[in-house]
Amino acid sequence: MTFRARHLLGIEPLHPVEITTLLDLADSYVDLNRGSAKHSDALAGLTQINMFFENSTRTQASFELAGKRLGADVMNMAMQASSIKKGETLIDTALTLNAMHPDLLVVRHPHSGAVDLLAQKVNCAVLNAGDGRHEHPTQALLDALTIRRAKGRLHRLNIAICGDIAHSRVARSNILLLHKMENRIRLVGPPTLVPSAFGELGCEVYGDMREGIEGCDVVMMLRLQKERMDGGFIPSEREYYHRFGLDAEKLSFAKDDAIVMHPGPMNRGVEIDGVIADDINRSVIQEQVEMGVAVRMAAMDLLARNLRGEGA
Ligand code: CP
Repeated sequence: MTFRARHLLGIEPLHPVEITTLLDLADSYVDLNRGSAKHSDALAGLTQINMFFENSTRTQASFELAGKRLGADVMNMAMQASSIKKGETLIDTALTLNAMHPDLLVVRHPHSGAVDLLAQKVNCAVLNAGDGRHEHPTQALLDALTIRRAKGRLHRLNIAICGDIAHSRVARSNILLLHKMENRIRLVGPPTLVPSAFGELGCEVYGDMREGIEGCDVVMMLRLQKERMDGGFIPSEREYYHRFGLDAEKLSFAKDDAIVMHPGPMNRGVEIDGVIADDINRSVIQEQVEMGVAVRMAAMDLLARNLRGEGA
C-alpha cells in the first residue's frame, strides 16, 4: 500500500497505486459511516481549517463531516466575513492561518492555480476542494469510488462525460483519473463546450449525444456552468436540453445497466431530466454524495499519516 503525497492538489501527480490505496481506505470509511458509531481517532489532536472562497454545499459539508468523524478540530472560515473583504491577499490570509498551526487546510478558490500557490507558503497539508477550471481531485476520487462499487471494477469501462467540459474542473480531474485507470473516455457536447484540444488528452470527442453515449457503461452529466460563461456558448437552454439533455430516450443508447452520474448541483431540465436523476435503478447521484464523505476521510487520513511520518 502506497500513498506518498504531501498535499492533494490534483489528480495529475497521483500514481494509479496511490489512487487504489485511497479508494480501498475510503471503502472502509463507507462501512464506518453506515454504522451507528461514526467515529474514529485517525485525526485526533489535529486541526483542520476549511477555506471556501466559492460557494459549495456538497464539498464543504462533506469535508467538515469527514474531519469531525475522524476526531479533528474543524474550523470553517467564513470567507465573506474575513479580512479578505478589507483587501488582505490570499497569501497573507494563508500565512496568518498557518501561524495558528493547522495540520490540514482545505481550500476552494475561483482561480486556477490559487490552491497550488497557497500550498507553497504553508507548513501543513493542503487539499484542493476545487480551483477555477483546473482540478477538483476529491470529486474525481469520489466518482471513481462510486463507479468501482457500481461496476465492480475501475478499468476498461466506456465512460461518456457529457456537457460543459470547457468550464469544468470536474471533467479535467475525471479525465486524468479515468485515463490513469485505463478506461475509454468519450466527451460529448457542442463544440463551444467541448474544445477539440481535449482530443489530445486521448479522449474521443462527439457532437451528437446518442452516438456519444452508445454502448457506454457510465454516463456522467455535467452542469452547465453559467457563472463561468461570458458569451453565447449555447443558443438557448431549451435548445441545449433538446440536443444534449439526458432523458430516457437518449439514455436508451447506453448499455442497459449503464449508470448515470452528476457531480451536482444539477440544473434539472437543462442538462438532465429530473426523472432520470431520481431513478434509483439508473442514477447513482446520491451514492456520489455518500462516497464524498468517505473519500475525504481517506484523503485526510492518508495525508495526516504522511505528516506524522507514518506514511502508507
Ligand atoms: N460537486 C461539487 O463540488 O458540489 P458543491 O459545489 O456543492 O461542493
